[in-house]
Amino acid sequence: MNNSKIEKKLAAEKAVTFLKDGMVVGLGTGNTAEFAINAIGERVKQGLQIQGIPTSESSHKLAESLGIPLTDFSNNIAIDITIDGADEFDPYLRLIKGGGGALLREKIVASATSKNIVIVDASKKVERLGKFLLPVEIIPFAKDLIMDNLAENGLSPKVRMNNKTPFITDEKNLILDLNIYNQRNLEYLEKRLKSIPGIVETGLFLSTTSMVIMGEGKEVKIFD
Ligand code: A5P
Repeated sequence: MNNSKIEKKLAAEKAVTFLKDGMVVGLGTGNTAEFAINAIGERVKQGLQIQGIPTSESSHKLAESLGIPLTDFSNNIAIDITIDGADEFDPYLRLIKGGGGALLREKIVASATSKNIVIVDASKKVERLGKFLLPVEIIPFAKDLIMDNLAENGLSPKVRMNNKTPFITDEKNLILDLNIYNQRNLEYLEKRLKSIPGIVETGLFLSTTSMVIMGEGKEVKIFD
């Protein structure tokens, strides 16, 4: 296992120690979240009683294959803890997410969660968000209008591809990746993006994070 994978696994295993019997747990998406789901699967086998709400079809499949009991918002509208990864986090625990294309369900789940634990390897720590392109999920019908608007505003939108065809999300939408490195006011950017008809959600998570657990070498660091 390479260093970044070891760091992801360490962070994931630490996050899982926060789970207790009876909790409803949001299950994130991505490689780091997969380490967490596997560790939760182990704890469930040992008797931990939780119910999971997955943030993507892939996390749903993995959790199901491990025998983790699952639920949804028709049964539970409050989630105790969500464990999910991130593409970048800054000193204010603001995030860019959506590298794996699951940002819409991830944001819905994060918004319904009391304690959002973000798990990362050390490469995800930045002073300023935006080296990673910001994913936004859009309705396919509005693609050209939105691309035009964003290009005029200097955000250089690119349609996310999956080999030679556009990447399609779990909600059957498209992802645009935007260059936001020169944007200083992220709250304003978030409002501006969300006001464009056809943009469903952005990968900016500005105020949901309770704690970041970061693997670094063989250590785990907590930011809260
Ligand atoms: C999925 O859509 C993302 O938000 C992931 O949480 C993020 O891309 C981090 O992914 P890794 O854990 O695979 O680095």
